[in-house]
Amino acid sequence: MQTNPLGTIRFTDKTALITGGASGIGRATANRLASEGAHVIIADNNAEMAQQAVAEIQETGGKALYIGIDLADDESVRAAVHAVTEKFSTLHILVNNAAILRTGKIENGAWLPNWDLETATGLRGWVLTTQLLLPLLKNEGGAIVNLSSEGGFLGRPGQWVYDAIKAALVSVTKTMAYEFIEYGIRVNAVAPGWIVTEMHFGGTADPVARKKELEELSISSCIMKRLAAPEEIAAAITFLLSDDASYITGQTIHVDGGRWGMSVGH
Ligand SMILES: NC(=O)c1ccc[n+]([C@@H]2O[C@H](COP(=O)([O-])OP(=O)(O)OC[C@H]3O[C@@H](n4cnc5c(N)ncnc54)[C@H](O)[C@@H]3O)[C@@H](O)[C@H]2O)c1
Repeated sequence: MQTNPLGTIRFTDKTALITGGASGIGRATANRLASEGAHVIIADNNAEMAQQAVAEIQETGGKALYIGIDLADDESVRAAVHAVTEKFSTLHILVNNAAILRTGKIENGAWLPNWDLETATGLRGWVLTTQLLLPLLKNEGGAIVNLSSEGGFLGRPGQWVYDAIKAALVSVTKTMAYEFIEYGIRVNAVAPGWIVTEMHFGGTADPVARKKELEELSISSCIMKRLAAPEEIAAAITFLLSDDASYITGQTIHVDGGRWGMSVGH
């Protein structure tokens, strides 16, 4: 799928930080922002993949750099934000995106070992990152997008921690929208359906085969009966980050192929 099928240029001279920009939806968003003129900062805990993502953008003439961050570690978040402030005085765009998915049924307590890491990464770390970057975002105003999930609206068996975090992010997005509007910062969330990313094929025995399988899978849980490519989510994220969305804040946009139910296991 093309990075920028419409050929729009909406982010010239804008600086954008994407957590989890090394992979999946974050990477597609970084690519799209860079293709539209933004200087992107890929903040991730996977240095190798992040550096590949930066190189990919630079090879096509875009501006990108990598900053290491572990969202589950407050000190790492502080160090990463410090590194950003040493390079940039202003930030226009923040995409809170990096998260992990762990499973475990409530009944047998299998979720217990995952609770701390999953919430520290996907909820606490996001709010801390936002808090610490706020002085840079306040300079000229801008936009934030938080990645929620359809899971936050479903509450799926075996995924209560992940889904509860994603529901919380809908609420946090509203809070941020109220608190930051005086600085000219809009805050929205995107709730994707089921997307073909490393989250779903990365850890499997044969990632290439699993990716292909997911791309071709017919699902009953949405009107469009297929999974999405990460670029289709990046398109919605960048719309919300752009001036085309100038009267949209505090909202969660569902990008889910018309989801109405659950597929088995998802
Ligand atoms: N893929 C889907 O079906 C789907 C559906 C709904 C919502 N989402 C959400 O979209 C976002 C992106 O998901 P994805 O599918 O692209 O995931 P992904 O696994 O492909 O990418 C996640 C990125 O986050 C990074 N990361 C993980 N832990 C980190 C940490 N502690 N600190 C810093 N970086 C860390 C990873 O290195 C990776 O680059 C997530 O918030 C996810 O919950 C995904």
